Amino acid sequence: MTLRISVIGTGYLGATHAACMAELGYEVIGLDVDTAKLEALAAGVLPFHEPGLPELLRKHVASGHLRFTDSYAEVAAGADIHFITVGTPQRADSQSADMSYVDGSVDSLLEHITGEALIVGKSTVPVGTARRLSEKIAQSAKQGSDIALAWNPEFLREGFAVQDTLRPDRLVYGLQDGRGLELLRKVYAPILALDTPEIATDLETAELVKVAANAFLATKISFINAFAEVTETVGGDIKVLADAIGHDKRIGRRFLNAGVGFGGGCLPKDIRALQARVSELGLSQTMGFLAEVDQINLRRRDRVVSLASHMLGNELAGKQVCVLGVTFKPDSDDVRDSPALDIAVRLYNEGAEVSVYDPEGNANAARRFPRLNYVDSCKEAAQKADLTLVLTEWNEFREMNPSDLADVVASKQLIDGRNVLDRPEWRKQGWTITGPGEYFELGNMAPATTSIPVQAKPAASA
Ligand code: UDX
Repeated sequence: MTLRISVIGTGYLGATHAACMAELGYEVIGLDVDTAKLEALAAGVLPFHEPGLPELLRKHVASGHLRFTDSYAEVAAGADIHFITVGTPQRADSQSADMSYVDGSVDSLLEHITGEALIVGKSTVPVGTARRLSEKIAQSAKQGSDIALAWNPEFLREGFAVQDTLRPDRLVYGLQDGRGLELLRKVYAPILALDTPEIATDLETAELVKVAANAFLATKISFINAFAEVTETVGGDIKVLADAIGHDKRIGRRFLNAGVGFGGGCLPKDIRALQARVSELGLSQTMGFLAEVDQINLRRRDRVVSLASHMLGNELAGKQVCVLGVTFKPDSDDVRDSPALDIAVRLYNEGAEVSVYDPEGNANAARRFPRLNYVDSCKEAAQKADLTLVLTEWNEFREMNPSDLADVVASKQLIDGRNVLDRPEWRKQGWTITGPGEYFELGNMAPATTSIPVQAKPAASA
């Protein structure tokens, strides 16, 4: 019999998981409380940008393998496995994760499940949540029902969500007394057939794998950004440094790109929630280094704002600034905790006129900060700009030629916030260009209105 699956919460993770489960050949029902979102999904329209996902959604809505509802009764009757993919955002009043959506969805399922079922948590949660939920299930499940709980963290990256779901680096299941293992192996059989490593463990380990992975990635980025602070002061080339240490297979080159730092809906919130959780456990010192990781990350933004101010003669008021990229990373329209958008807004708050172009992020950014001037091309954003900043490494910006903007800007000054431009080439064409990790003598700036050459030291650091 075809497996019947429900996916509770059709945000980023849930919409991806639902479409990918349908792609594996199962009968899938997606549940959400947001009826506008459900209507869009049912019509095959994805409310966010994710390469490859709209095609999968449309294919399986059309085939009838994937449908959507807001009814827990329908989901409880129509599926045997329920994946919980609701959000666990940072609470407004603290660094902790808000667990109300996870608890609410489990409570609603328990009200309606009358037979045998497996609930599988996928949301990123504070360690101990699954154990607590399994006690809730034991206490509140309906008479005659038989419900097991497993934890199956998700490691998908925005921009690669489909690929990461269908070809993950590993599958992790947290189990209680091995319950649910057989069913999970059945669900993931096509993925396991690709020799995907499988780790079956206890509930706590499964919860921790996810936060440990994200904490490690955040630490790796802040590690190289801390060295960027050093090269900014004494000279040196941060990219060459990253390449050189990255050749050591124990270190690896990935996630060693210095720049404006990490953002998005996961890494910042997850390292904060982890600190909050270990404090609750009486271990506040244990993850103390993550506070430093967070601080290093936030200092990247300060650095770019200071650079911009100095390049504009310490006076942002009235200056025309062009910002290329506002999403937290390329191939995404997500501006949650985006360093790029934060920097754009701070420049605006200091009095600059800020024109923004992002291939996918303008609409989301405009909803949050309508006062920036959102336009439809690099050239439009760069009109009369006294300074241009590249803050998200979209291919469109990487491939930009220095001559593309030269005619429209007021001043050929640029901050390469993601270290992706060929700085020597831009310099050859008369631009003053610098960016994170590069020696730049802030103290030696000439007065406003003068275009000041960047002091690269040594020349190879360009
Ligand atoms: C992350 C994890 O990678 C993923 O496994 C988890 O499931 C969710 O969180 P995501 O938020 O989509 O995924 O983005 P990711 O590609 O990890 O990038 C996070 C941030 O780090 C981005 O702002 C990116 O620009 C930044 N970054 C990444 C760097 O600044 N330098 C790097 O070297 C790598």
